[in-house]
Amino acid sequence: MRVIKVENYNEVSERAAAMIASQVILQPDCVLGLATGSTPIGTYKKLIQWYNEGKVDFSEVMSINLDEYIGLDGSSEQSYRYFMNHNLFEHININIAKTFVPDGMAKNGEEACSLYDERIKNAGGIDLQLLGIGNNGHIGFNEPSDCFLECTHIVELEESTIAANARFFRSEEEVPKAAITMGMGGIMRAKKVLLIANGAQKAAIIKKAMEGPVTPKIPASILQLHSDCTIIYSEE
Ligand code: PGA
Repeated sequence: MRVIKVENYNEVSERAAAMIASQVILQPDCVLGLATGSTPIGTYKKLIQWYNEGKVDFSEVMSINLDEYIGLDGSSEQSYRYFMNHNLFEHININIAKTFVPDGMAKNGEEACSLYDERIKNAGGIDLQLLGIGNNGHIGFNEPSDCFLECTHIVELEESTIAANARFFRSEEEVPKAAITMGMGGIMRAKKVLLIANGAQKAAIIKKAMEGPVTPKIPASILQLHSDCTIIYSEE
């Protein structure tokens, strides 16, 4: 595992974007695993900038996102589909039909989960998975639990996650209580993993996840077992 500590958020974003851009340049038809949240926004801005400068071409890329809220459809501004369209996809030349986000509106949740795993498998797995980390150590919405769950699943969000994400909603009551998330299998089978984080609170959970025991109580600790994982963070 490579742990790269940098000075500030801008450097986190620039280095992460450089890794993603390199992946796309070396393998134009790669499968990118993408993430939402505040942290990746700077990374996506850099990628948009480099696309506009003609440095990177996303026309053959497929993307598979980590998660989605249950009960929000893509037209809802708080949905992760909307986030991805708005913060990245609409600004680059990716084929929108090749961008996948779990379906938070599926009538049959279990079926939606197995279809998502099939989608990942049929794509040949993920080449580079971008991750943020929650204050509780979650990756995707794999919340602290008694076991690591391999497959895409529906999860009840922790109070701390609901509180942390309330900033994107008008009130905490509006935050969905459940989400559909890629499981640890999809993440751990990615050929490369890139986790980004910013701020003192995140530095503390990264230290726990990387230096403490591998335990589902700190979901990101499973990344200690990944053979090609890079963490880029700043304490700023
Ligand atoms: P954040 O979220 O980037 O908004 O801090 C990260 C996460 O919860 O995975």
